[in-house]
Amino acid sequence: MATALSLPQTTIGKKAIMAASSIVLMGFLVGHLGGNLLIFAENPEVAVNSYSNWLREFGHGSMIWIVRAVLIAAILGHIWGAFTITARNKAARPVGYRRKQNLRSTLASRTMVYGGLGLLAYIVYHLLHLTWQYGIPGGRNPMADPAYPLIDTNVYLNLIESFQSPAIAGVYVLAQVFVGLHLYHGAWSFLQTLGFSHPRYNEMRKLAAAGFAGLISVGFILIPLGVQFGLVK
Ligand code: HEM
Repeated sequence: MATALSLPQTTIGKKAIMAASSIVLMGFLVGHLGGNLLIFAENPEVAVNSYSNWLREFGHGSMIWIVRAVLIAAILGHIWGAFTITARNKAARPVGYRRKQNLRSTLASRTMVYGGLGLLAYIVYHLLHLTWQYGIPGGRNPMADPAYPLIDTNVYLNLIESFQSPAIAGVYVLAQVFVGLHLYHGAWSFLQTLGFSHPRYNEMRKLAAAGFAGLISVGFILIPLGVQFGLVK
């Protein structure tokens, strides 16, 4: 009989871990996008910096570490779930699929794994760039700053100065396309796990997944493009 401890070894347990970590990561992306879109506020420097300083300083800097711990746990759970489910699917079908529809789903899950690894690389780049601020002129390096996260940093200026470079803006735009694709496939299978897998719901499910992924991806893309096209200065 399956006990609570052996639940992660079951397919349903792995799917539950994927679904729970997806909720945390999707929630983070919605909040992160909302915060970043403050760059389009009337007084963007005050709006962006007050928000980011609040995030850093709330609870004497303890809240940001709690959020980080939850995010790290969600990312690790998500990666572990993705790899073990993929391995289990492969082991169940060593000779591969014959029907076209199934072939497509293997391609989608393979794209998810490679796309997910690409996103992980982007996150490392993104942290080095905007959180640890390597290479930002005058940027402070919190890795070497014992007062971190209670440091005063001009996140707004970091964004403007970075995205004025077409290369950095380009990397971010491209990364957000991958974020969108990953979210689309992810939201689609997330809704399936929740039970919306009846053919009657398939079109609706596709629309909901595309709508969510499109909003997040386009929302993020507006930020580097807004700076490149001089809409935000
Ligand atoms: C154009 C798109 C994006 C912009 C402009 C942006 C901006 C930022 C900024 C300014 C910070 C540092 C905030 C601070 O130190 O106060 C940050 C941190 C972070 N971003 Fe983004 N971000 C973008 C997209 C993303 C995406 C798509 C992801 C995830 C896939 C992501 C994940 C993170 C994480 C994990 C942190 C670290 C949070 C922490 O301090 O613990 N970002 N981002």
